Amino acid sequence: MQPLSVPAKIILFGEHAVVYDQPAIAIPVSDLRVVAKFAPPAGNYLKIVGINEHGKQALLYPNADHHNPFSQIVKLTLDFLEKPEPETTIMLESEIPIASGLGSGAALSTIIARALSEFFNQELPLSVLNDIVYEVEKIHHGTPSGIDNTVIVYEKPIVFRRESPLIFIEQIQRPLTFLIADTGEKGLTHISVAAVKERVENHSARRIITAIGDLVEQALVAIQNGDLQGIGQLMVKNHALLQELTVSSQSLDQLVLAAMNAGAYGAKLSGGGRGGNMIALVDDKTLENTRDALYAAGAIKVYKTTLKGS
Ligand code: PMV
Repeated sequence: MQPLSVPAKIILFGEHAVVYDQPAIAIPVSDLRVVAKFAPPAGNYLKIVGINEHGKQALLYPNADHHNPFSQIVKLTLDFLEKPEPETTIMLESEIPIASGLGSGAALSTIIARALSEFFNQELPLSVLNDIVYEVEKIHHGTPSGIDNTVIVYEKPIVFRRESPLIFIEQIQRPLTFLIADTGEKGLTHISVAAVKERVENHSARRIITAIGDLVEQALVAIQNGDLQGIGQLMVKNHALLQELTVSSQSLDQLVLAAMNAGAYGAKLSGGGRGGNMIALVDDKTLENTRDALYAAGAIKVYKTTLKGS
C-alpha cells in the first residue's frame, strides 16, 4: 500500500486577486510531498510529530494553544468523525518548506485529517475535508481565498474562484515544466495580504485586481493549448501587476530576471510574495540553463515540477 501523502502546490496565475473574487489557477506539486506514518502511541493520547526537510523534529500536537492550527484540525476532524482522540503517534515527514508559498500549512492540515480518518478506517469525503482545512486556513490569515486547501485536497490543476463552482483543468495539450526557486526569505502571507487589502480599500489597487483576473482567463486558454510563448508572456505580465501591488521583493525580482535572461518562457512570483518562491516556465532546452541561472542569482533551492498533458 502507498503511504499516505499530500502534495505541495503552486499558484500559476492570479494570487492576491483571488482574495477579491477573481479567478486564479493553481496546480499540485506532486513531487514535493508530506508523508504520514503511524508509530506506537507515546501514552494514552494522540501525538503528532513533524519532521521538516532538514530532518528537524517538532512536536505539533498536543499543543497548549487550542487555537493553534494543529489543535484545530484535530478537533474539527474528530468532531466530524465523531471519534475520541486516538491513542497513536503520527509522524509527518515533510519535503515542503514552510512560509514559502508552497502551501505547507494546508498540506499539513490535510494530511493530519486524512491520517485520522485512515486510523479509524472511516471515510472523510473530499468536500468535507476541504471545508475543514479551509476553516484552519483562516487561522493563518484572516481572509484566505481557499485556493491552497482546494488544490491540495483535490490534487488536480484547478481554476479557482470564490463562490463559483470549482473547475478542474482537464485538457492540457502538452506537458508544462516549471522550475520553482526558493529565495530563502520567509514570505508571510498574512502581511502581504494585509498590504493588498489596504490598497484595495483605498481603491488604488482595484484596477490591478481586475487586470489580473482578465489575464487569468487568457492564461487558461494558453495552458489548454500548450502555448508556451503565450503562457510565458502572461506570467511576466502577472509578475508586473504583482510588483504594482507591492508584493514582490528584490530577491524575487532578481530571480525572475535571471530566469528570463536564461531563456525561460516566463517567470513570476508565486503565492503570497515578499519572499518565498518564484516559478519559471521552461522546456527541455532551457531547463538546465535556467536552473543554473536561478542558483547563480541566489536561489537556495530549485525544484522542478511537470504538469502532465492530457
Ligand atoms: O499561501 P500562499 O503564500 O501560497 O499564498 C496565498 C495566496 C494568496 O492569494 C496571496 C492568498 C489567498 O488566500 O489566496
